[in-house]
Amino acid sequence: MLELLTPPPADPLWDLAAEFGADARPERLNLVLGVYRDDTGVTPVMRAVREAEIRLAEGSASKEYRGLSGNLAFNRAMVSLVLGTDGSEVGGRAAAVQTVAGTGALRLLADLVRQTRPDATVWISDPAYVNHRPIMQSAGLTVRTYRWSGPDGRADLPGMLRDLREARRDDVVLLQGCCHNPTGVDPSPEAWEALADLAERRGWVPFVDLAYHGLGDGLDADLRPTRMLASRVPEMLVAVSCSKNFGLYSERTGCAIVLGRSRQTLRHAETSLQNIARTLYSMPPEHGAAVVTAVLQDPALRSAWRAELDVMRGRITDNRADLAARLRALGHPVAAETLGRQKGMFSTLPLTADQMRRLREEFAVYGTASGRVNIAGVAAHRIPYLAGSVAAVLGDGRMPAGAQRLDAVGAAAG
Ligand SMILES: Cc1ncc(COP(=O)(O)O)c(C=O)c1O
Repeated sequence: MLELLTPPPADPLWDLAAEFGADARPERLNLVLGVYRDDTGVTPVMRAVREAEIRLAEGSASKEYRGLSGNLAFNRAMVSLVLGTDGSEVGGRAAAVQTVAGTGALRLLADLVRQTRPDATVWISDPAYVNHRPIMQSAGLTVRTYRWSGPDGRADLPGMLRDLREARRDDVVLLQGCCHNPTGVDPSPEAWEALADLAERRGWVPFVDLAYHGLGDGLDADLRPTRMLASRVPEMLVAVSCSKNFGLYSERTGCAIVLGRSRQTLRHAETSLQNIARTLYSMPPEHGAAVVTAVLQDPALRSAWRAELDVMRGRITDNRADLAARLRALGHPVAAETLGRQKGMFSTLPLTADQMRRLREEFAVYGTASGRVNIAGVAAHRIPYLAGSVAAVLGDGRMPAGAQRLDAVGAAAG
């Protein structure tokens, strides 16, 4: 049987990560995957998360099965966190099931769309998160794209609106709620309102993917477009990931939220999501959801978590500002300005695929061919090296004087 398998296409991100693993150059910098690292190169367990885990380990008496919707208190906490409501009008219009992280939420909701509207087209941004198209297509949905950003590094609202004018009633438009992956470019508040106007007028359903809330402008600011959309449209889908903002990457913690018109449609949506999950994995894992619930339900832990999230956000913002300032000082003001406008864990460097290859081969700086780099993965003292490498590739290929080739701590932190 297995000899009939043909080799699947390689995964470019994990291939690059493996290439980095085999790179022995001490100055190497791994900026491929979206993982936060502190200045010692570690992806920390957040203190609020650790404290919740201790309490859970001491207090939980049973690991009995949860139901098909997972941890119900977690689902309520997610609806409340995301929609900024506690059983108020919008919260009352929501159904939620716990999922295997953000990816699981995307897939469950895609399957739900396929069940209810098999002919729906899902519109994804161009460029999109690398998994959006495969997940939607695996669910059997047709995928089309709408423009996201222009060459100036700003959201291309006219382009978006022009492309989305072709979206039909009952089509689904996948929008990243904040900190767009891979570009780091987010629409302005006015642009979000214009998208909501269009959704209202044309009847398509917004499908918001939230993976980086809290890492752009702050938790409430990052969730504002999602909440605004929720207040304007009758139906909406939201895929929520707890991987980045709770640092729970490997615990696979997330939530699928559906906003609907009536209690009955919401009940049907929840049962459908449960049935989809049943045939895939039955129930989601409990640990991450229990941790998040413990953090969000305890006022002290909740504010400790928010403070830690703010520190992470501050580091990312500082890294980006420092990189932009150094590029400006090295004679690349346009690149600096474009970078300076971006938000969240990722930035797109204004480099071609060939320049990204040179960055990797000549300077051991690993980003994706599209120019995406994980700005949250660089130790602050490695920014001069990163800026110098980018400037070298943009210029005559030589590391500018003053940009460190390597420092000892930086090598360890990689
Ligand atoms: C835009 C976006 N959505 C969803 C996800 C899925 O995250 P996870 O499945 O790790 O929670 C990611 C992860 O990188 C992402 O960038």
